[in-house]
Parts: sequence; structure tokens; C-alpha cells
Amino acid sequence: MEIHEKIKEIEAKISESLKNVKLSKHLQEIKMKFLGKTGEISELMKGMREVPPEKKREVGQLLNDFRTRTEKQFDELNAKLKEKELEARYAAETIDVTMPAKKAESGSFHPNTLIRNELVSIFSGMGFEVFEGPEIENDYYNFTALNTPKDHPARDMQDTFYLAPDLLLRTQTSAGQIRVMENKKPPIKILSPGKVYRSDDDATHSPMFSQMEGLVVDKGITLCDLKGMLDEFARKVFGEGVKTRLRPSYFPFTEPSVEVDVSCFECGGKGCRLCKGTGWIEVLGAGMVNRRVLEGCGVDPDVYSGFAFGMGIERIAMLKYGINNMKLLFEGDTRFLKQFKD
Ligand code: PHE
Repeated sequence: MEIHEKIKEIEAKISESLKNVKLSKHLQEIKMKFLGKTGEISELMKGMREVPPEKKREVGQLLNDFRTRTEKQFDELNAKLKEKELEARYAAETIDVTMPAKKAESGSFHPNTLIRNELVSIFSGMGFEVFEGPEIENDYYNFTALNTPKDHPARDMQDTFYLAPDLLLRTQTSAGQIRVMENKKPPIKILSPGKVYRSDDDATHSPMFSQMEGLVVDKGITLCDLKGMLDEFARKVFGEGVKTRLRPSYFPFTEPSVEVDVSCFECGGKGCRLCKGTGWIEVLGAGMVNRRVLEGCGVDPDVYSGFAFGMGIERIAMLKYGINNMKLLFEGDTRFLKQFKD
């Protein structure tokens, strides 16, 4: 077939194919059909081998022109399509600034954390420093050094999880008292928050809970200092006008030992359901550090004295926020938790 005719034929095919192209990627596919390595124009050019030598120049010229022309045609159309596509994309991505904003959900602190932070802030204001002891303790720190040797009946006060004969999950943050006194000379004023473990489980007890321990050791510390400091704590946590009272109690590591009550912040002391009609609510255990404990840590009990206190953080949270079931503090239900905001 005459070369002119072939070119015309292909040209017709090209314009037929280009009639309805709307997308640049389709254009690319069509381009490959004609100009790709095995495309129709390329095939046509391969036919150059059979062209007699005297015609080669002329035919070659024709084919080259044809190819260049076609390439240009595709390139121009491609540029047009690309521009349209970009415009469409910009239109689709336009931001409607009048749309209502998505609500940003913010988290909230767990009630335990709120109480812990509040206590740390109250006691830091009185000069206490925070010390965090290990949750896995040995018998010495959790019991023996706290004047509770192996055969001591007070061991039964706390059912202990043992990991090995001499390794246990601490049952009280009081273990930290010993670690501090061993490492620091008085004056000592520390606050020690942390998790503790006891094999106990009911509506008001959990096998894991949190305590806040306080320890003050210096010359001339008395029960009066403890009482004064607790009054301040009670007012700040439960409200102005809340008083404290000390009742005699027993802990092996304090002597004398006391149980501390706060006047009922719900009824102001008249008697209600919260305070079970007594006007008082028990909040923590405390006492003067036992001489034997001081001695064991190398602190001279004839020169120094001190007081210690320990409270359950969950208990304080339940009282302060009116939570009636301790399990709510461990279940992680966000419907419960998001009610607590700073
Ligand atoms: N460790 C005691 C308990 O867990 C509380 C306490 C701490 C009592 C410090 C006195 C002094 O019950």
C-alpha cells in the first residue's frame, strides 16, 4: 500500500480514538497503541527496511514528520486534560469554612490520679518530697524492718502475695519508709504514693489498690505536728470546716498508733448515711514511728522522732467523689471515667 494512504489510515484511527477521551490516563493508553514500542506507527517505521534505497529518504522524512506531528498532538491534548483534572481536584478539595467543626474529644484523668496529684500538691506545699519504692519487695522491707517479724500476729492483718519465699508484692507503701531512712539522714519529709497488693476482694477491697504514705523524721517531732498537718490535709481535700480526730489503734511500726477520722463533710457532723450516723469518717492510719524501726535504720531514737501516715487513695477518691463501688475504679468504663475532670 502506498505510504501516504497508510499514514492517512492511521491518522483517521487516531482521531477516531481521541474523540471521546476525557481522562489523561486513557489518553496515555491510546498513545501507547500508536506510539508505543509495538504501536502502529512504530510498526510502520519498522517497514522502512523493505523500502527501496532510492525512496528511503523521502519515506523516512514522511514517517518522521508523521510521528512528530502525532506526538505533538498527544502532548497538547494531554496538557489540556491534565489542567482540567487539576481544576476538578481543586474544586473537590475546597474547604467549606462554614461547616461545623468536629468535636475534639479530650481525655480525663482517672479519679485515682486526680487524688494522687492533689495530695502530692498539698504535701509538696508543706515541704514533702516524693519517693517511689519498688512494688516487688522482700520480706525485710515490707515486714521485718517495720517491726513485724515472721511470727508476729500483725502479719495476718494483711494477706500477702508471695512470689518466692523471700519475695512478695508489697502490702503497704510503708516499706518505702525503711528505704528512705536507710539512705537519708534526718530531717526527712517524704511522700510515697504507689500500688500495693493484698489477697482481699470485695465491694470495698481490691487485690491491688493504691496508697499514699507520708513520713517525717526530725528532732522534736510530736503527735501534735501530725495532727496539725492532718487538719490542713483534711481541709484542703474535703473542704473548709472539716476537722480531724485521732483514735487509738495499732500498727507494729508506730507507737502510739492512731486511726484518723475526718468530721463528715456531707452532714457537717450531725450524722447521715455516709458517716453511718456517727458524724465521723475514717480516712487513714498513722502514728509516731516506733523506736525500734528508727533504730533498725540507724536513726538514733533518743535524738530523733517522727510520724508516719498511710492512706488508701481509692478510699479517699470514693469519699470525695461519692463513688459507692470500688470496682468502678478498676473497670475502666469510660462512661464512668469521663465524669471526672480537673
Ligand atoms: N501501712 C498501714 C496500712 O497499710 C498504714 C499506716 C502507715 C499506718 C503509716 C501507720 C503509719 O494499713
